[in-house]
Amino acid sequence: MRKDILKNLQQEIYDRCQKETNKFGMGCYYHIVAVVKNAEILAEEYGADKEIVMIAAWLHDIASITEYSLYELHHIHGAEMAYSILKEYGYEDKKILLVQKCIKNHRGSISLEKNSIEELCVADADAISHFDSLPSLLYLAYVQRGMGIEDGKEFVKNKLIRSFQKLSARSKKHYQNKFEKTMEVLG
Ligand SMILES: [Fe+2]
Ligand SMILES: [Fe+2]
Repeated sequence: MRKDILKNLQQEIYDRCQKETNKFGMGCYYHIVAVVKNAEILAEEYGADKEIVMIAAWLHDIASITEYSLYELHHIHGAEMAYSILKEYGYEDKKILLVQKCIKNHRGSISLEKNSIEELCVADADAISHFDSLPSLLYLAYVQRGMGIEDGKEFVKNKLIRSFQKLSARSKKHYQNKFEKTMEVLG
């Protein structure tokens, strides 16, 4: 495991999130941290290559946090940016390619016939990460969008339901309990 790369990436992402050019604010950093955490759990669970999955998780939204105009196609731009960053760390081309695939496909629906288990881990970790950032979602609803109690509750619940539906069948099973508990808390 290239611990040095993971450590450097964490710092790199933290620094980019703090810059004024990051229009998504620091919430984005906590989102990425949650994705890395869940990606590691899923990689362990599914026997995926943990190093590839964790590096891709750190980098999956790098284009959006670096330049707002790249948001629309951030999966494509992110894969390109990942190449130059990882190349600088002396990471092998063959592995960079696997990381790039995870970044390119983190937004779409993943099927195991077409995609690798590593791609599935990153896409599912991204979808489930909302469940680890409830305070940010509530803040978005009640403060940033100024919603009332009921509207805000429905907004957050719908967002969570949509995220859960994006998960692969096996990850739905894995996170079923977390999903139910979170829904119960929101009432
Ligand atoms: Fe993304
Ligand atoms: Fe993301």
